[in-house]
Amino acid sequence: MANIIKVQKGTKDILPQEISLWYKMEDNARKIFSNAGYGELRTPIFEATELFARGVGDTTDIVNKEMYTFEKSERSLTLRPENTAGVVRAFIENGMHRLSAPVKLWYKGPMFRYERPQAGRQRQFHQVGVEMFGIKDATADAEIIELAVSYLKSLGLNDLDVEINSLGCPNCRENFKKQLREVLKPYFNDLCEDCQTRYEKNPLRLLDCKVESCKSIFEKPEVKQVIQGDFICDECSEHFEQLKTYLDALNIKYSVNKLLVRGLDYYNRTVFEIKSNNLGSQNAVCGGGRYDSLVKNLGGEDTPAIGFAMGMERLYSLMEKSPDNKLDAFVVSTDKTEALKLVKYLRDNNKKTDFDFNGKKFTKQMEKASKVAKFAVILGEDEIANNTISVKNLETSEQITINRENLLNNI
Ligand code: HAM
Repeated sequence: MANIIKVQKGTKDILPQEISLWYKMEDNARKIFSNAGYGELRTPIFEATELFARGVGDTTDIVNKEMYTFEKSERSLTLRPENTAGVVRAFIENGMHRLSAPVKLWYKGPMFRYERPQAGRQRQFHQVGVEMFGIKDATADAEIIELAVSYLKSLGLNDLDVEINSLGCPNCRENFKKQLREVLKPYFNDLCEDCQTRYEKNPLRLLDCKVESCKSIFEKPEVKQVIQGDFICDECSEHFEQLKTYLDALNIKYSVNKLLVRGLDYYNRTVFEIKSNNLGSQNAVCGGGRYDSLVKNLGGEDTPAIGFAMGMERLYSLMEKSPDNKLDAFVVSTDKTEALKLVKYLRDNNKKTDFDFNGKKFTKQMEKASKVAKFAVILGEDEIANNTISVKNLETSEQITINRENLLNNI
């Protein structure tokens, strides 16, 4: 026998019995986001590598370790590891800054990161997300977080924790980075290798480290004092306070997590994550935040922006699985021509219908019907001769014989 070729590590087939929940995630996104004025944007799955290096940031794990990069015609291309950079490219390239603000966009689709696969972490995964351009005010931050929560609720996911933080602006952040470097200096040799690199390049990212020995350093009183201290400037602080007031008014429960810094470089001010207690270590279903400099950094007009993305595989694993719907009808007949005609008639009338292609014995067909359908629609010799039809309710076992024209009213 020939070798079996398997699906690649960190990738998955989405099977027909799973698809109804994927339809639900997509349909609810379309409904809820378009109600709030967001239009769907579909960008290509690969982009110039430089877009992500400049957009996501070359000190991030995503850019340094996780990109699927390849060359074609001497161009370096990368499968998108996330979609904010691609959306910003499309925003600039299509002159969307000329539209009246806010410009609101949503998307869904596959993303690619070369990470170590584990529960909730794949190399090809799907995101659904939104991005809003042109509004600096904290009302935009409130709308974005509210939209994320509403969408999750529509999928039956109510029991989730919203965590927020403010990373301040480049000015206040510089000060914080300096303080952080200073207080961590005596512990430099105890930091993990990644954190030693981060220490120089982007010390804020240290706070995101999951290595126990680093985490214990952040617990040292003098380090904790710097982390928990209010480093953000008055203007950033006012923006954050305003956001909290809006979230309170919208009855959205949240907690402030000062260690929340996110794994991408483009953020400033508000960052947030929505987490579940039922997902193990990969517990974030949603991550987002404000990125007021990205449009300008990628060559566009200075435009504030904010958005989020959710991992659809993680949403899927939290959604309640109800057994897939049964067929409306299973046609039982030993006359295959009559069966084909009746199946077509029922399908034309929007009844989910199937039949036995091999014309097996009547009892075998009835057995199959009772497993897969709500009703058996029986076309035996008597029924064909009398132009009638029998309908058996497979839940109650009740059977009636009726005129054919009454069929649709009885299933
Ligand atoms: P992110 O936090 O990198 O943010 O990803 C958002 C969500 O995608 C995560 O919370 C998680 O649910 C899911 N996700 C990420 N990596 C994986 C993976 N390897 N396997 C399965 N799920 C994964 C972003 O991507 C930003 N672009 C979000 C954003 C939009 N910020 C502003 N606008």
